[in-house]
Amino acid sequence: MSVDVLLGLQWGDEGKGKIVDYLANNYDLIARFQGGANAGHTLYIDGKKIVLHNIPSGVFHKRPLNLIGNGMVIDPVAFKKEVEQITAFGTDVRQKLVLSKKAHLTIPTHKILDAASEAAKGKAKIGSTLRGISPTYMDKIGRNGLRIGDITLPDFEERYQKLKAKHEQLLSRLYDFEYDLEEMEAEWREGIEVMRSFKLVEGEYFVNQFLKEGKEVLAEGAQGSMLDIDFGTYPYVTSSNTITAGVCNGLGVAPQHIKEVIGITKAYCTRVGAGPFPSELENEKGEEIRRIGGEFGATTGRPRRCGWIDLPALQYAIMLNGVTKVVMTKVDILSEFESIEVCETYKVDDKIQNHLPYDLTKHKIIPIYRVFEGWQSSLDNLETFDQLPSKLQTYIQYIEEQLGAPVDILSTGPERNQLVFKVVEEVIA
Ligand code: GDP
Ligand code: IMO
Ligand code: MG
Repeated sequence: MSVDVLLGLQWGDEGKGKIVDYLANNYDLIARFQGGANAGHTLYIDGKKIVLHNIPSGVFHKRPLNLIGNGMVIDPVAFKKEVEQITAFGTDVRQKLVLSKKAHLTIPTHKILDAASEAAKGKAKIGSTLRGISPTYMDKIGRNGLRIGDITLPDFEERYQKLKAKHEQLLSRLYDFEYDLEEMEAEWREGIEVMRSFKLVEGEYFVNQFLKEGKEVLAEGAQGSMLDIDFGTYPYVTSSNTITAGVCNGLGVAPQHIKEVIGITKAYCTRVGAGPFPSELENEKGEEIRRIGGEFGATTGRPRRCGWIDLPALQYAIMLNGVTKVVMTKVDILSEFESIEVCETYKVDDKIQNHLPYDLTKHKIIPIYRVFEGWQSSLDNLETFDQLPSKLQTYIQYIEEQLGAPVDILSTGPERNQLVFKVVEEVIA
């Protein structure tokens, strides 16, 4: 019937995976529309942790099928590993997942190019996840890419060799970077074989058939709005459209099908990799958030940079995405703090504004904070907003006013059911 969208409003790792996993049984199809193995979406299934990179977070549920959409870029090596991990949970992933033929393939030399480009940038490096994301999207836009559907064609090997040769030329001309392709290629070919054992579909027809039949679709975003290729903190961004608009070309659905847009934000803010982060706390407070929040990358294990929630950036993300509902995660992490701060506005070169400057790196941005008293009590076993400590209720009401969007769900722990709802009827079994 319609497509709901769930995506991150910050710089990624907002807890999207957990919320998709919670909502999954309300949908017939969960579809990823962009990104690839740069994503790391953490779920807890019967108390056991799994991190998904390419495969949508609805894969463990009975009702939904899952789709790797055309807007994604897939590394067969990461895909194979993920299939093995999911299988170890007793899930028959081939029954739960289909792949769009039009999604692009990452080949080993894409990953080498990613690493060589980052190394050559030195101090100016983006802090890429080194999953080959940017070179794969470059080949897509440059009209040289390989697509998943190509793996069934008789000349696939020829096409692969042609693209690889182009990359080898680039590597030898542009970079002084050593690499060993042989082992990487062997793993990659094994991954391709695994992909061949999956059902490949024309994703755009597939999704639209679901809609025609009155079924419900959830589009699962990866990364976050501030990492969007057009609207993020360029060039410190990823290489895809992470915002709602990316759903239309990343799945092949028309905009009028989109209904709810669920925006996820942490109760504070994190960023992994380089780039501007106005409300970053480069002090003990930031370290405390990292320690209590376990803020280390789900894909790379890198420590995440931590800071207070940033309202100008969130207001911007809400504007870009047309957010209809906000989910705030990791609220429990702030439960110990005596005071909680919120970046309400920026002082940009001595001018107070909420408008994000064209290039954040070119200005002196001083975050102006509003301070709230901490609630300093456990949020365990609470189910509805009226049970929340009053200081937390005050904080949430203020955030809602500032964002102009309702905060409907709070997440208070990593497990599927550690959630608090504004409206009791929203509690979904
Ligand atoms: P994603 O990329 O947006 O899916 O988020 P990640 O999985 O990269 O990072 C979120 C981390 O926070 C994971 O380790 C989750 O298990 C964890 N998490 C999610 N929601 C909550 C929450 O409400 N409280 C706590 N303590 N942890 C959470
Ligand atoms: P999820 O879906 C957080 C960041 C990288 C780097 C920049 C570019 O788990 O929220 P790339 O490998 O895409 O070329 O890296 O984007 N990045 C993420 N940060 N969460 C993610 O995904 C990310 N995916 C990419 O750290 O700064
Ligand atoms: Mg993540």
